[in-house]
Amino acid sequence: MTSAGESINCLIMKKIAITGANGFIGSRLSSFLLSQGYDVRCLVRKNSDLSLLAKDLETVFVDYNDSESLQTALKDSEIVIHLAALTRAKTWEEFRKINIDLVETLVNIVNVSSSIEQFIFMSSQAAAGPAASALPKREDEECNPVTMYGNSKLEAEELIQDQCLKAWTILRPVSVFGPGEKDLLEYYKIVNKGIAPLIGMRHKYISLIYVDDLCRLTSLAVGNEAAYNEIFFAAGSENISMAGFAYLISQALNKVVTKIRIFVPVLWLAAVILELFGWSSKRPPVLNREKLREMSQRYWLASNHKAEEILGFTQEATLVKQMQTTINWYKEHNVL
Ligand SMILES: NC(=O)c1ccc[n+]([C@@H]2O[C@H](COP(=O)([O-])OP(=O)(O)OC[C@H]3O[C@@H](n4cnc5c(N)ncnc54)[C@H](OP(=O)(O)O)[C@@H]3O)[C@@H](O)[C@H]2O)c1
Repeated sequence: MTSAGESINCLIMKKIAITGANGFIGSRLSSFLLSQGYDVRCLVRKNSDLSLLAKDLETVFVDYNDSESLQTALKDSEIVIHLAALTRAKTWEEFRKINIDLVETLVNIVNVSSSIEQFIFMSSQAAAGPAASALPKREDEECNPVTMYGNSKLEAEELIQDQCLKAWTILRPVSVFGPGEKDLLEYYKIVNKGIAPLIGMRHKYISLIYVDDLCRLTSLAVGNEAAYNEIFFAAGSENISMAGFAYLISQALNKVVTKIRIFVPVLWLAAVILELFGWSSKRPPVLNREKLREMSQRYWLASNHKAEEILGFTQEATLVKQMQTTINWYKEHNVL
């Protein structure tokens, strides 16, 4: 016999398929949605590193280049959350293949599926581009991406809006930080050595979101009609200067640091040299000209007002606490 609570839980439990589930965000999101009572299916590749993925999750191997393999993996799913993407690549062709063509394949599958009700796409603030001033950018403002990555995410957003016949929701996270993240970690490592490099002579500002806040925000969009056919920035409530960000990290590391401002042309030269040294590797180095173009913008600020109003999203803890948890995790895992 099932209790009333269990019956209700069975009624509301949606089947969610998550692409890119083994990644930084995907692994946290999969565990979070499972803890919320959803039936979660994690789509991963044969060679994916599964170290961040919890063992209690259902894992399905998929070939993203094969539509049939995807169709099988998505069978019976009611919600698809698409996270798999290339965040760094050398050419537009590479970005297009994963960040646009794969979205098109998925939209085609979603359109003909009898079970799928909603397609949630993890886009990026990069699709919208930076804000024009210190006023955080809003969803209804014109998009002006400054990188190939941003352009690929914007094209994918447009494709979904034009072609998806089911309910869709587009989320545009700002810089996501938290346990398991790999790119910002490189910066934490430098700060841990007592140096806080800052780009250019002028102050720069960023919006941030803690990974668990992003998971909650995503779950608020799941099966929520108010989120259907809407775009939301996914951002925390505390915007910060890059100098403030460096201070936040140094406090969490309990380190005294020296701030060093580096001229953009110097970094440009360094990026070119790193790219030349890494010409034979598949992925570009963490510091490359695309990344520098992105990092040179003054206002990577996005408003979470719409997510607050429509989804009821709020940042759960202070940035100070969230950064401390992040740094503690890296220390516990001997990465810092
Ligand atoms: N992290 C951020 O700050 C941030 C901000 C805004 C938006 N986003 C978006 O959030 C999503 C997840 O990002 P993340 O930070 O979790 O990235 P991540 O840790 O690098 O994970 C990326 C995921 O995409 C998969 N993937 C990478 N290349 C692929 C390819 N060529 N074909 C198929 N799958 C591929 C990876 O699978 P393998 O492990 O098998 O390579 C992995 O599962 C992405 O769509 C990203 O654009 C992230």
